[in-house]
Amino acid sequence: MPSARRPKIVPSLLSADFAAIASQIAMVEGAGADELHLDSMDGRFVPNLTWGMKIVKDLRRLTTLPFDCHLMIVEPERYVDAFRDAGADIITFHYEATPHQDRLLAHLRSIGARAGIAINPGTPVSMLVDLVEGVDRVLVMSVNPGFGGQSFIERALVKVAEVRELLDARNPDCEIEIDGGVEPGNIERAVQAGADVLVAGNALFAAVDPPAMLRALRARADAASAAAR
Ligand code: DX5
Ligand code: ZN
Repeated sequence: MPSARRPKIVPSLLSADFAAIASQIAMVEGAGADELHLDSMDGRFVPNLTWGMKIVKDLRRLTTLPFDCHLMIVEPERYVDAFRDAGADIITFHYEATPHQDRLLAHLRSIGARAGIAINPGTPVSMLVDLVEGVDRVLVMSVNPGFGGQSFIERALVKVAEVRELLDARNPDCEIEIDGGVEPGNIERAVQAGADVLVAGNALFAAVDPPAMLRALRARADAASAAAR
């Protein structure tokens, strides 16, 4: 079942041009982005490197949009305070990256962040059963994390629907985010399955006209959401 909330369209800056990052952010903000998704990678949890707190802090000056910081790093508990200080509003760590998920979720809320937990394609939704009351956002990966521009894994839609069912019973205010390979051909199905927060990297920034693409993604997401009510 779709969420009762209006879907959020959230550009992933992983696919943006960092030599022109101020104008890239202004472009997606002007086109109506709801948040910005910032992928931090450590070369250990995933086979790629991106950025840390300094970049988040510097980007913070460029926009008032909420920062959705997706930490693809081992031992995320070592860094969350610094990400929060740098300006992260939503901090999402990976279930697979720490043995102390419950403690870290509570800590995120205690420092004023919204607490997110992500699951890889190989991690079943059942791993969240004992955590969901402490979560503000569940991120279902629809690619194996590490790179933009990969193909959408259809199985993720089944997992989104399973998360929706779990949250409807136990924590209906919690959002579901889907990340990886989201594009016009699958965004409606993601919303129908129950996703609230749609991350788009390559589909948006590699488009000929990114603002038009953002509006097209929003129109499709809104239509899927409205049709279900
Ligand atoms: C992948 C990242 C994603 C990525 C999505 O590991 O977590 O946020 O940027 O990009 P696309 O939409 O290109 O798959
Ligand atoms: Zn991400």
